[in-house]
Amino acid sequence: MTSLLGIDLGTSSVRALLVDPDGTVLALNGLDYTPDIPRPGFAEQDPDFWAAMAFTTISRSLADARVTGDGVRALSFSGQMHGLVCVDKAGKPLRPAIIWQDQRSKHVIRDMYDRLGRDVIGGAVQNTVATGFLLASLVWLKENEPETYGKIYRVMLPKDYLKFRLSGVIATDFSDAAGTTAFDNVNRQWSRPLLDALGLDPEMFPEILPSTAVLGTVTPEAAAATGLSTSTLVVNGGADQCMQAVGNGIVQEGVFSSNIGTGGQMSACSASPLYDPEFRTSTFAHALPERWTVMGAALSAGASMKWLAERVLHLDSFRDVDALAGAVPAGSGGLLFLPYLAGERTPHFDPEARGVFLGLTLGHDRRNLLRAVMEGVAFALRDSLDIILGMGVRCTRLIASGGGANSPLWLQIQADVFNQPIEKSLNREQACLGAAITAGIGAGIYPGYPEAADRLVRFDECLYTPDPENVRLYNELHQMYKETYIVNKQLFPALARVDETTSGN
Ligand code: XUL
Repeated sequence: MTSLLGIDLGTSSVRALLVDPDGTVLALNGLDYTPDIPRPGFAEQDPDFWAAMAFTTISRSLADARVTGDGVRALSFSGQMHGLVCVDKAGKPLRPAIIWQDQRSKHVIRDMYDRLGRDVIGGAVQNTVATGFLLASLVWLKENEPETYGKIYRVMLPKDYLKFRLSGVIATDFSDAAGTTAFDNVNRQWSRPLLDALGLDPEMFPEILPSTAVLGTVTPEAAAATGLSTSTLVVNGGADQCMQAVGNGIVQEGVFSSNIGTGGQMSACSASPLYDPEFRTSTFAHALPERWTVMGAALSAGASMKWLAERVLHLDSFRDVDALAGAVPAGSGGLLFLPYLAGERTPHFDPEARGVFLGLTLGHDRRNLLRAVMEGVAFALRDSLDIILGMGVRCTRLIASGGGANSPLWLQIQADVFNQPIEKSLNREQACLGAAITAGIGAGIYPGYPEAADRLVRFDECLYTPDPENVRLYNELHQMYKETYIVNKQLFPALARVDETTSGN
């Protein structure tokens, strides 16, 4: 049997999906975890912990499918983007990874923009440098942990470390390289001018290869730890947003994706390196050489729901959320939620932004709170949609994905807030599937992404279409949502100071 393994290294879990070349799921295993928060605003994960968790899920998937290592032709990766892993010459991590949710670099970024200017940085990398992005975290490290910085042999993205542990090869791919904001999307290479301006050694940056490049085979140590064979091919892989797009068949211009995972992303596939002149969205190279992804990100999408359902309301399961939230009408009884629980990326790039419930009354209960969170996350994604449409990208199709797509209510809310019909694929773990497809292309099983997507990606017949009355209501509420940030934004840094001075750190 020739099976393919797709591994998705996420922020809250790692998943290993084993499929046959027709996409039939042979096994799916995952392990959940939470990022470490050593101080408010910091977010870290131990790269060797990722590897241990991933190895366990791989061996469980092989066991569940009763597939021996020799039965796995190739494997590849999807990974949480942007994070910084730094290793010494022996490939040992020098410190915990600083992941995409980390906000420690906010002052570094302010200095960088004061010194170099928005146009120089934007011109070099077609993006805004945000907290948690590799470039910013690396400059922070250079300034704050010079000893560690001095020992760095290579910097890596999270999934590239896992790949290194499986294959012994250090390399990245275009989609993940772009997410560092040290990458020139137009020329598809590291931005030497920006690295020079920041005094960063270009030698630290790994070689960039196509997502479908075969890097080698599984090492004997990794084979022993996972049950894989030393003849299983290790294929480069890509950033989770890119692999999720592939797993949803998003390889053509004009197809949009609305993803609600820990974070939320509205993205569009584009045939040129389009970027917002105000740099409110991000532009990342796609796994296909002639494609780019234009993306706006909400930092706390599913994370807002998890926070409310688990930490605040102590609900036993997410199963109850739809029934509770669906029991109150659209508009949540005049309750608005800004999901800025970890700052916000699009459209504000404001690490100090904070979450808001606005409009609470004695008549409200948990049902209103839950629905307001669903609506608030959809408003955040609508901000990105409006910017991308404003760049002239026409939306021919909108595909929902991530955990949020498991909720029929959240899908309907998205259709109403976006005023766009929305559909979803039948495959559950789209990022894993994208990685498995990438493995299959690397192994020569599929000629390319469009053909593989045609063969493997299936869509649900159920289309969520906008309800005109809700569209009108949500248009009005979206305006109020936007004003809520503008009116309150000067209060956020003062509230953060209270948090810092009273938290004992
Ligand atoms: C994308 C982003 C997240 C991470 C984690 O820009 O920040 O999607 O990739 O999944």
